[in-house]
Amino acid sequence: MSAPTVHRAGSYDAANTTSGGLRGELARLEAQAELSFDEELRIMRELGLRGAGPLLELGAGSGAVTRRLRAAEPDLPIVAADIDETVLAHAACPGVPRLAADGRGLPLRTGSVGGVLLRYVLQHVADPAPVLAEALRVLRPGGLLIVVEVDSMLWGLADPMYPELASVHATMAGAQRGAGGDRQIGRKLTRLLRGAGFADVALRPFATTNDDHPTEAFAPHMGPERLVPLVASGALSMAQLALAADRWKRFRSDPDAWVMLLGFVVAGTAPGGPAGTTWRKR
Ligand SMILES: C[S@@+](CC[C@H](N)C(=O)[O-])C[C@H]1O[C@@H](n2cnc3c(N)ncnc32)[C@H](O)[C@@H]1O
Repeated sequence: MSAPTVHRAGSYDAANTTSGGLRGELARLEAQAELSFDEELRIMRELGLRGAGPLLELGAGSGAVTRRLRAAEPDLPIVAADIDETVLAHAACPGVPRLAADGRGLPLRTGSVGGVLLRYVLQHVADPAPVLAEALRVLRPGGLLIVVEVDSMLWGLADPMYPELASVHATMAGAQRGAGGDRQIGRKLTRLLRGAGFADVALRPFATTNDDHPTEAFAPHMGPERLVPLVASGALSMAQLALAADRWKRFRSDPDAWVMLLGFVVAGTAPGGPAGTTWRKR
């Protein structure tokens, strides 16, 4: 790849997502993938991941999931693509070609891939429709689209809860919306996929709890680091940041604290594939 360039098409700005700039974000993406990848993989396999090669991982970012997928499915050919070359430069993974490309106009032939994975990408694009249309175009008939996403109103459950943080969370969602993203994408996904022309659309939720992971592993989602750029931009006050930091400190030092994060895998197939190869009971 030539000298990295930052192109953006929505609300994602790797250098301003968390504290510590780009380096902080690379660490956050790793920790985020580490927390839920096993659950996501289990569902992706149920949905036919192994037959979905070559798999285009669109919006692969720094390759946190690319490397895990490669290790889990060494026989699955993968291509890692992203609009942001600066982030993609960190996605080195033996045997995985990288492609600097905008998901709204892919430099790939029609019907040339068996699968497309969009993980935490659609929540950042201003309009998911052109990205889904391109995914459908490059998939061969019967090819598999997998979308991994969240919804901010169904993010999960924490006990104890801190209602005093509601305005902080609302500010965070508002900032992403203002930048052209949508943290409430989860509830819209099945309709978006159907509207784009995908068949056999199905949603599979997954949960991650601190019964299975240390509470500290939830820091990318619950810790105050993601709020730091919002203080720098003036959207959040120092007092709100301090409150969020204090509640996270309390939560993670409470041996009885419990958290469950919810995520969604939504899949669909490109029409025209062989009958009887899908997961849907008819
Ligand atoms: C939150 S990151 C997720 C990275 C990776 N999928 C993961 O789960 O670790 C979102 C990624 O989507 C990329 N992205 C956003 N819009 C895109 C577009 N139109 N085409 C390609 N990539 C895009 C961003 O550059 C960023 O790397």
